[in-house]
Parts: sequence; C-alpha cells; structure tokens
Amino acid sequence: MVIILLGSQGAGKGTQAALLSERLSIPHVATGDLFREAIKHQTELGQRVKGYLDRGELVPDEVTVAVVRERLSQPDCQKGVILDGFPRNVEQAQALDRILAEQGRRVDRVLDIRISREAVLERLTGRRICRRCGVNYHLRFNPPREERGCDLCGGELYQRSDDRSEPIKKRLELYVARTRPLVDGYQERGLLTAIDGEGDIEGVHRDILAALGLETA
Ligand code: AP5
Ligand code: MG
Ligand code: ZN
Repeated sequence: MVIILLGSQGAGKGTQAALLSERLSIPHVATGDLFREAIKHQTELGQRVKGYLDRGELVPDEVTVAVVRERLSQPDCQKGVILDGFPRNVEQAQALDRILAEQGRRVDRVLDIRISREAVLERLTGRRICRRCGVNYHLRFNPPREERGCDLCGGELYQRSDDRSEPIKKRLELYVARTRPLVDGYQERGLLTAIDGEGDIEGVHRDILAALGLETA
C-alpha cells in the first residue's frame, strides 16, 4: 500500500502519518524529517539542504528524489509506505511513478488534507518538536504535560527554523504554485480523497481510516 498525504503546511500530514503508520505497521517517510535529521547530524546532505529549509524554499529535485529513491529501496518499505511531503511538484510526482514502477508497484491512494489559511498560521506558530525523538506538539491543541519537556522521552522542545513568519509565507506560496497542481492530476487518476483537516486530531484520523475503508478501533 503506497499512500501519499498531500496538504498545505500545518495541515497535519506529519501528525496523521504517524498515527496511520502505527495503525498499518508501515513506515512514515517524510522528506522534511529526513532533511532535518541530516541537518542535526551535520551530514553532507544536511549541509547541502539547510539553507533551503531555513528559507522555506524547495530543496532541488535531484537531491530530494535521490533521498526518496534510497529510502524506498530499504526492506521496511517493501510492504508499504506513507509518504508525507513528497511529491511536492509535478516533476517529483513523475519521478515517484518511475521509482515505484521499477519496484513493480504504484501509488494506491492520495489523501488531500485541507485546512484554511488562518488555521495554518495558528498551527505552525504553536508547533513544538522534541529535539530527541522528533514527536510533534502544539502549545494549544496538543500540549505536552510538562511545560518544557517531551512526554515520551523528556527531550527539549524546540521551534522549527522555518516556523517563523517569513519562511511560512514562502512555504505557503510554493505550496499553491507547485504542490496544489498535483491534486488535479491525482484526482483525474481516481486516486484522490479530500479530508477535512480542521477537526481535532482524533477526528481527522477517523476520517482518514474511513476513507481508506479501515475500521476505527
Ligand atoms: P516539511 O517538513 O514537509 O514541512 P511542511 O511541508 O512545511 O509541512 P509541515 O510539516 O509544516 O506540516 P504538517 O502537515 O506535517 O503539519 P503537522 O502535522 O506538523 O518540509 C520542510 C522543508 O523541507 C520544506 O520547506 C523544504 O525546504 C524541504 N522539503 C521537504 N520535502 C521536500 C520536497 N519533497 N521537495 C523539496 N523540498 C522539500 O501539524 C502542524 C501543527 O498542528 C503541529 O503542532 C500539530 O500538533 C498541530 N496539529 C496537527 N493536526 C491538528 C489538528 N487536527 N488540530 C489541531 N492541531 C493540529
Ligand atoms: Mg510535517
Ligand atoms: Zn521526545
């Protein structure tokens, strides 16, 4: 099962992908997370992509596609994968089709999580992430029990460098110009289901399970 989660910044792709990954026991592959890991460990890839992430610009396709190709070839991705943040433009969508075809599979479902621009801003400015385990919180909607530390591992919570007003503006512009056109393409292929992303986290999760024809636990 190859599932793509589309949706603007802050729509809840990462949040929902994590829940779905647990439910389906298939990996959650998020290009943004892979890039942030590389930056944290100061690898060559990390040094190459850091400026793009800080500014809210897209990392060049050749770099992104190579990262995804390598990740999708790993054994844990063979029985399925949930893609979050990739593809993000038409060229990447074509590259994904090629990579999957080489592996004898294809995109099965695309879920487009939709939220308003006001909700985006509120979600991104309140987001906090655990430096140690990477889990996401929101100061208002999904707060950690302790003021400063992660509930799961006690790690320090930080704000992403691109969750500031200038990079947020840039990311949203790029979403409209480069990513939104993918919605029509997947719609025409009969793969797309729109999901209302404005409910609470559990409610959106239930809608996603229903869209996939899975029973809610
Ligand atoms: P990426 O990491 O993918 O970031 P993004 O696209 O900006 O999306 P977000 O992670 O901001 O949104 P999300 O939908 O995952 O929201 P979340 O679940 O966290 O990419 C970062 C950068 O990497 C890009 O700008 C680019 O530079 C580079 N990059 C990545 N992929 C690339 C590609 N393919 N090509 C080129 N460059 C690429 O939710 C947000 C907040 O809201 C959280 O705090 C959460 O707790 C809260 N929340 C979630 N759901 C709800 C809910 N239902 N109700 C209330 N609060 C909620
Ligand atoms: Mg995310
Ligand atoms: Zn943690």
